[in-house]
Amino acid sequence: MANKFLEAEKKYFRGWMFLGFSSAFPKGKIKTRKYMNEDCLLFRSESGKLNMIEPYCSHFGTNMETGKVMGENIQCPMHGRMFEGDGACRNAKFKSIRSYTVAENRGLVFAWFDEPGAEPQWEHPQFMNEEEFPDILWRHARNLELHHPAVPQNNGVDPRHFEFTHAMFGKVTQEGDFEAEGHKATCKMATEVQKPLSTLAKGNVAEVTAYYEGPLNDYLISKTGSNVAHLGNFLTVIDGKHCKLTQIGMGKRTFNPVTRIQDLISAFFSWNATREDAPVWNNRKPIEHDYYPHDTDKAIKAFCEWTDTFQYFPGSDDEQEKANDENRLKAVEI
Ligand code: FES
Ligand SMILES: [Fe+2]
Repeated sequence: MANKFLEAEKKYFRGWMFLGFSSAFPKGKIKTRKYMNEDCLLFRSESGKLNMIEPYCSHFGTNMETGKVMGENIQCPMHGRMFEGDGACRNAKFKSIRSYTVAENRGLVFAWFDEPGAEPQWEHPQFMNEEEFPDILWRHARNLELHHPAVPQNNGVDPRHFEFTHAMFGKVTQEGDFEAEGHKATCKMATEVQKPLSTLAKGNVAEVTAYYEGPLNDYLISKTGSNVAHLGNFLTVIDGKHCKLTQIGMGKRTFNPVTRIQDLISAFFSWNATREDAPVWNNRKPIEHDYYPHDTDKAIKAFCEWTDTFQYFPGSDDEQEKANDENRLKAVEI
């Protein structure tokens, strides 16, 4: 199993990937980023539509990061070819460039990653149910190095990882029970909380259910008695060994002073517990712990089989370079 992850450096997951918050992409601004080992350019047009295309002009391959947003298009800074958000060249007969489908949902930006030209196979994640959870109560993002994308998303099926790395979540009381249907999957497990965490009291058994929307996004609901905590996990894959995990706590914001005080107290407990999170990775202290043979764990096996069905193999950097060179040569022939 471990080898599978280590060999997977050049494999990625097709699906909706979290790109960040809408506020990071203001109108008229051009941003370049690397996602799934692919160079990408984002621009928000004058009408407010966010677009993502490859950054290289179909003429001589100029990087259009220093171009200009003109209405609904981006203009190449070299000779002024104009490209629409879907990558089509507005100047008659010239070659289009690659584009990605982008979706924005209540301030969150997702893009569909797949083979070039492939249509999205399902709708973007809709974890933010407007009526039930109108607010993002808190959010933070952390950069994860040396991870295959499957590793951070494995959290939701793996109570033994909670027990070892996120010790405040506690001791395993129920192993993961993973079930998948198409791009949707769920996993139920339970742990005994070792430290007060948000609205979860110490000593209580927390039932944790992970709801997956494809292999790149999941949403955890933890329950102890009548207390419930909601946590969205959104993955941004930079390349085979670098990811970013953005976590969002969701709930109903209230202006009732008593509830506000309760919220503040639970926020303090969360902060207090999470500052001791991942003590080994954060080099705080070693942990004495028996190692379990994870490879035999049923839920992890099922999770890995499920994620395998989403893998694709984007062109290597060299192939991308070759394709760009071919485009340049063809353009010169024109
Ligand atoms: S118009 Fe882009 S390189 Fe010529
Ligand atoms: Fe974790």
